[in-house]
Amino acid sequence: MNAPAEAAAIEFTLDGRAVAARPGETLWDVARRVGVELPHLCHRPGLPPAGNCRACVVEVAGERTLAASCCRAPQPGMQVRTDSERAVRARRTVLELLLADAPGSAELKLDSELAHWAQRAGAAAGRWPARGAVQAHAAPDASHPAFTVRLDACIQCTRCVRACRDVQGNDVLGLAGRGGHARIVFDQGDRVADSTCVACGECVQACPTGALAPANGAYARRAERVVRSVCPFCGVGCAVDLH
Ligand code: FES
Repeated sequence: MNAPAEAAAIEFTLDGRAVAARPGETLWDVARRVGVELPHLCHRPGLPPAGNCRACVVEVAGERTLAASCCRAPQPGMQVRTDSERAVRARRTVLELLLADAPGSAELKLDSELAHWAQRAGAAAGRWPARGAVQAHAAPDASHPAFTVRLDACIQCTRCVRACRDVQGNDVLGLAGRGGHARIVFDQGDRVADSTCVACGECVQACPTGALAPANGAYARRAERVVRSVCPFCGVGCAVDLH
């Protein structure tokens, strides 16, 4: 019996350089592997892709719209630019809009992933007016002793929803409402302490802005933190990533 054929690498160019994607890799994966840094807020290795923040957009030759690199599969012969003026400017603008959406994130922690990428991209806080979304005026939920929810710092990347559902299998967190009324909720909009949350910490680890943060205010997340480990990724909250 013949061994199954290995999927062929997909060859394309990234910023003019010939690269080859391994099976299953996205444009973002390839860029990261070859040392090209792209912002990513809704994307987190280990979680299913969402493609909702657009912080990672790149330009693909022949396409009118920019592509979210975190969920775009490479094609043979594709010509991708992460460094074109259009792509760089778009990513910076996206980060500025996210800062406007999450005014509370600035006071919460300068070490957040959002702050990190905004700084790297030269994105200016305050360039755009806050959108006045419902969540911007939500009172903090400090009902649980382990962590606090600050929706005014939320960018609705849904990492917490996916971490709760797809990593822990708890499915406590969800997105309720639409447009400017959309917001992250625990169960049916319950206070955390009244919800079915088991305080595993997975959502807190996944949050890139500090909207979900330890109740003691401690926050030490750094973008791109990788710790090689045999940890089974239980989500207890020790912040060990497996990749
Ligand atoms: Fe790619 Fe959010 S990181 S769309």
